[in-house]
Amino acid sequence: MIIRPRRLRRNEVIRNMIAETAVNPDALVYPMFVVEGTGVKEEIPSMPNQFRFSIDEILKELADCVALGVKSILLFGIPNHKDEMATSAYDNDGIVQRAVRAIKAKFPNLYVITDVCLCEYMSHGHCGIVKDGDVDNDPTLELLAKTAVSQVAAGADMVAPSDMMDGHITALREALDNAGFTNTPIMGYSAKFASAYYGPFRDAADSAPHFGNRKSYQMDVRNGREALHEVELDLEEGADIVMVKPGLAFLDVLRQTAEISNVPVAVYNVSGEYSMVKAAAKMGWIDENAIIRENMIAFKRAGADIIITYHAKEILENKIL
Ligand code: PBG
Ligand code: ZN
Repeated sequence: MIIRPRRLRRNEVIRNMIAETAVNPDALVYPMFVVEGTGVKEEIPSMPNQFRFSIDEILKELADCVALGVKSILLFGIPNHKDEMATSAYDNDGIVQRAVRAIKAKFPNLYVITDVCLCEYMSHGHCGIVKDGDVDNDPTLELLAKTAVSQVAAGADMVAPSDMMDGHITALREALDNAGFTNTPIMGYSAKFASAYYGPFRDAADSAPHFGNRKSYQMDVRNGREALHEVELDLEEGADIVMVKPGLAFLDVLRQTAEISNVPVAVYNVSGEYSMVKAAAKMGWIDENAIIRENMIAFKRAGADIIITYHAKEILENKIL
């Protein structure tokens, strides 16, 4: 036998020397939830070790995160007031807007990305304006654009529209540019599937639709080619970063996206993926840190530049990479 691949696996030095993939800790984005009130730090039952924080508490938590090396967060707001026009989403004194102002005042170098969607702010829990039982695309774009502008006016460094409306990147780009925010990047949730993996998030953010489902706007999980069409559209509309979401069940889409994209590619390691790891670890069925590392490497190997993950803090804390 001349060719013996095991020669290069004989000890850790040689294994590390030839390792093809490394996950960049600076490319981890930590999603966080902010609620009204003070002194609130509520654990999310289906997402162990993830919390809903009031603004005063998120500032304390962020001091920890920043010290550990968290460079960027993705912020979701949970308002007290919900209605049929998601008015709290684009209120300059809305929960996200106030949180961003407070966070940027205390941590000017923390890169704050805000989620742009309306489901948390709608009384019915859908991601846009409901008309005749379905989400009405074009009027929704106006509200999304207003939301993005008010978040950036509050100090957000980047916006990430997760609504899956057609034309959303164009709508946000025009509105941001008109407001003078020409330098604010948009990260499109480009290929976002109608996934059961969002279940724990919807508990966390109180954003489950009260009727029907999101299949008229989020993508059918059976479609890979259509996902690339969505990515192409976001690129044509000027998305600065494109995203595939969820991650683990869609690594093929992630790989193909990385091949066609000329901008950085993000992957969202979503709530259900996180919760499954936590649940199995709690049962003692898996080696949690090793599983987390393997999942992160899978995203990287598939082509992700940026990894949005609820594991971000613990990865840094426990030096998991
Ligand atoms: C809101 C939004 C969702 C997620 C991110 N933004 C939920 C949904 O679309 O129903 C999911 C994130 C996760 O599961 O971690 N549109
Ligand atoms: Zn939504």
